[in-house]
Amino acid sequence: MRSLIDISDLSAKEIDELIETANDIIENPKKYSEILHGKKIATLFFEPSTRTRLSFEAAMYELGGNVLGFSEAASSSTSKGESLIDTIRVVSCYADIIAMRHPKEGSALVAAMNASVPIINAGDGGHNHPTQTLADLLTIKREKGRFDNLTIGLCGDLKFGRTVHSLINAMSRYENVKFVLISPDELVLPEYIKDDVIIKNGIEFEETDDLEKAIPKLDILYMTRVQQERFFNEEDYVRLKDTYILDMNKLSGGKEDMIVMHPLPRVNEIAVEVDNDKRACYFKQVLNGKYIRMALILKLLEVKPK
Ligand code: CP
Repeated sequence: MRSLIDISDLSAKEIDELIETANDIIENPKKYSEILHGKKIATLFFEPSTRTRLSFEAAMYELGGNVLGFSEAASSSTSKGESLIDTIRVVSCYADIIAMRHPKEGSALVAAMNASVPIINAGDGGHNHPTQTLADLLTIKREKGRFDNLTIGLCGDLKFGRTVHSLINAMSRYENVKFVLISPDELVLPEYIKDDVIIKNGIEFEETDDLEKAIPKLDILYMTRVQQERFFNEEDYVRLKDTYILDMNKLSGGKEDMIVMHPLPRVNEIAVEVDNDKRACYFKQVLNGKYIRMALILKLLEVKPK
């Protein structure tokens, strides 16, 4: 039985296979529409979510399965003091697979060590968000046609942005990838990711606080929200939240075939006027998220179409 806690739990070959399955689901949805009849996914969300929870639920319904779960800790027995381990043991009795989001780093790993069904990490604090990365990878493959030879600008909250951490991990495996890390000093990428992932793999990178200067060299611009919920004081959040706002003026400096990504939700980081530009891919990421999660559920349940 396998779980997905960290994107590096999947080999590059397995990621290619998931992308292949997701593309097949997009082309042939009927082939998959009853494939998980009788199976259940539990979505346990101890933290708010729109896309991740609803895309897991839509994914399971589109595979012919069913869904149970909760969308906030307050409506579960966590509010009465039940431990995460007990909750996971209990839900393992009801569901065939569990997707969970929790504010504590490492919680998904603890869950996987105590579950009798596969666990999917749908976000653990400021740590990892591997299924967002799968959505990002499917989007990059469909829009750019490759993972090699890309210069990727990651902009905003690189300290707390778990989607950035997982994406760097995933993209570090490919040839001739370069990272441009764009953030204010207070929100730079944690040293452990820089050392253990980027430097260890010999990846070229630069750090800057200047989005406009960085844009012309990028193949991908990955914008992120400043993560208010991870700040210790409101004053710092208010000071930093609007550091970067991508508008048409700034975007005009970018390559014609650059793509703009964002895991969403956005607050102010991308002006609405950018949405109609052909380079804006963030709503495609949302849809791709559903298809790649369908592929992932099938893989972890070891089900293939006949
Ligand atoms: N991208 C993402 O994780 O969105 P939600 O918080 O809405 O799930």
